Amino acid sequence: MIQINEEAGVIALHTASTTYAMGVADGRYLGHLYYGSRLYLSEADLENLRASMRLEEAPAVPSEDPGEKSGFLDAFPFEYPTGGIGDNHEPCLDIVTEAGQTGLELHWSGYRVCTGKRPLPGLPGGHGGKQVEPGESVNEREGGDSYGSAEAVQTLEIDLLSEGGGLLVTLIYGVFEKADVITRAVRICNRSKKTVFLTRALSFALFMDDEQRLEVMTMGGAWARERRVVRQKLEYGALVNESLRGESGHQTQPFMALVTPETTQRTGKVYAALFAYSGNFLSKVQVDEQRQIQIVMGIHPGTFHWMLAPGEIFDTPEVVLTCSECGLDGMTAHLHDFCRRHILRGSWVHRERPVLINSWEAMYFDISADRLLALAREAKEVGIEMLVVDDGWYGRRSRDEGSLGDWSANPEKFPGGLASFARQIHALGLRLGLWFEPEMVSGDSDLYRAHPDWMLRTAHHVPSMGRNQYVLDLANPSVVQYLCEALDAVIGEAQLDYIKWDMNRSITDFGSSFLPPQRQGETAHRYVLGLYKVQEHLVRTWPELLLENCSSGGARFDLGMLYYSPQIWCSDDMDPVERLPIIEGTAMLYPPSVIGAHISRDHNDVSQRTTRMEDRARMACLGTFGYELDLASLPRQLRSRIPAQIARHRELAPLVLEGDYYRIASYRENQRYDCAELVSKDRGEAAVFLFFVLGEPSRRSLLLHLEGLEEASLYQVYWDEESDQVQLDEGAGGVQWGTSKPFGEHPGQLYRGSVLMYAGIVIPRPRGDFHSLILRLHRKEDRFGRKND
Ligand code: DGJ
Repeated sequence: MIQINEEAGVIALHTASTTYAMGVADGRYLGHLYYGSRLYLSEADLENLRASMRLEEAPAVPSEDPGEKSGFLDAFPFEYPTGGIGDNHEPCLDIVTEAGQTGLELHWSGYRVCTGKRPLPGLPGGHGGKQVEPGESVNEREGGDSYGSAEAVQTLEIDLLSEGGGLLVTLIYGVFEKADVITRAVRICNRSKKTVFLTRALSFALFMDDEQRLEVMTMGGAWARERRVVRQKLEYGALVNESLRGESGHQTQPFMALVTPETTQRTGKVYAALFAYSGNFLSKVQVDEQRQIQIVMGIHPGTFHWMLAPGEIFDTPEVVLTCSECGLDGMTAHLHDFCRRHILRGSWVHRERPVLINSWEAMYFDISADRLLALAREAKEVGIEMLVVDDGWYGRRSRDEGSLGDWSANPEKFPGGLASFARQIHALGLRLGLWFEPEMVSGDSDLYRAHPDWMLRTAHHVPSMGRNQYVLDLANPSVVQYLCEALDAVIGEAQLDYIKWDMNRSITDFGSSFLPPQRQGETAHRYVLGLYKVQEHLVRTWPELLLENCSSGGARFDLGMLYYSPQIWCSDDMDPVERLPIIEGTAMLYPPSVIGAHISRDHNDVSQRTTRMEDRARMACLGTFGYELDLASLPRQLRSRIPAQIARHRELAPLVLEGDYYRIASYRENQRYDCAELVSKDRGEAAVFLFFVLGEPSRRSLLLHLEGLEEASLYQVYWDEESDQVQLDEGAGGVQWGTSKPFGEHPGQLYRGSVLMYAGIVIPRPRGDFHSLILRLHRKEDRFGRKND
């Protein structure tokens, strides 16, 4: 709901449990007033919010005290700060005029409110689409291009004008009432007769007093160690979280949250910002001399310089804001619901994905039609539904060198051609998926030989290779068109059901031979726009195609890519222990249904650690679930467990797709065990995923407190006892756990929700290292004594 008191000059945006408010000072300056718990306000109450602008204190507004204008501009909590005029906080917008001059002051000009949410041209962002029902097609949901509002979604646009009126800056606020999210983006229009250069155009700033001594949360990492949660105290000065790698990166995540010091999973206040963008970004938080906090986020100015000719418009990507009084789980709940309902699109979002087998860790580059067909037959036998042929199927590729860009099947590996291979796979009753790395080109490729000018490079530097490859110039529309056509041709030829879109190096040499000199600084952002264009083309041309994004593991896991693909490969590290902190960070922001998760072989190639298949299978249940190992070399008794693993995954899939996620314990924090829980929206079903890491002699059983259940309802608790038996069969390390069968003796023991949540449930401690367990909960009786079956 959007509430406006024009006389008082105050606007309040309300979601179910939050309020975001702004005010106009001195008739012209737009300031931030409040973001936090929902305020219930009469029109008259709105005026009281103006207090936070401190207009009664010195320095007075410029109309009263023009002599202290720069002091006012420095103290005022600008909603969209600009550089060069006296505000010494982080600016969102900086310009250079044709005369080479800087400095910009923006004044309030007006506003519009509309129902629903208009898409940002060429960019991902929150849409107002209604929940897709299972079986409903993408077209029914989206009604072509219409992003109508079946839910309570509204948009507020506020116009700010530069002095002289040459630049119109429109602040766009999406109000997603049910999801408790406010989105922010900015449109900049040059209405003058002269060119203006934007040297930074961030998407948002937020100002607040720091009486609460807020701490900041970000995520760090590396290849195979993505999205580790980092929390730091804030002191005077600034803290930056950024990527200049051309993607969100293994090392960073376009996310920043401010939390009160006492914040835990369930308590404390959290203000979070997540960027729906997949390229270079900057997020920065600073504490000023008044202990006011300012946070900004947007396209990284370090690789951004945009020429805005007369009449041209520039749109920034969107930042997603949420605020919770219920700790980190509250933030997670808002972000998951928002992502599921307002970011993800297409026919797969609410559908169970086919269980796949991927050839990468099964065979690496050593693939051929014969070997893949053998793998497919074995896969079919155990209930797998899709074969994904990973890297190595095209050109003359046999190692990580050469052929990128030549997207036709390697004739030696596929002597009968791709179409015939695809027919054979489909004839087995399997779906077929193929790996591509569309953004890349090898020096040794027909594409490079035909178009040496199609790669990113600057005139004065020999471009750097990464994984022996160059990056195509997606800022060039011819390259974008070529990619659309090349992908369409293979998808059509092989009737593909799935694509894994990989990207295996960070981007360097942001120079485009297509763009004129004054526009070279646009290359990095235009690259991302080109990437989105190709993926939008795929989504629209092949509505049933399941697209999975990937970047050398999980280096491009962001809301931007999720707008195009309902799942992203999470990490090249499939070791279940290594995955614990990766999943913790990833699922803190994104729902488990979008997290690519496979079961690899027992001795993990990345971690060099050996674990049991059941532990890996349980871990993969917290994501899209698939296999990535050579079934032929898998011991018989392990292969025979696959149908049961798939059945368990299927049972859990509805919870993974739509359930509320709770983090019960963090291995990253306690260094002992990890626990996450999923609860259905109606509270009738739940699953608890428990992973013990190292054996702990002399430790008593664990008293586990669950979350999200109905206090008075009666739940039957099962554990996946049958698969535990397999641990014994495997005999790895002489596992004893499970022989005492605590729940086995009382299968389906009944507990009240309140007991499970407040008194806790006793979990026997396993002996030895690495054990996992999934508890299943069904509501047998609700609080009125009505039976559920
Ligand atoms: C990196 C991906 O993360 C892997 O899964 C695999 O597809 C390789 N690239 C192939 O080159």
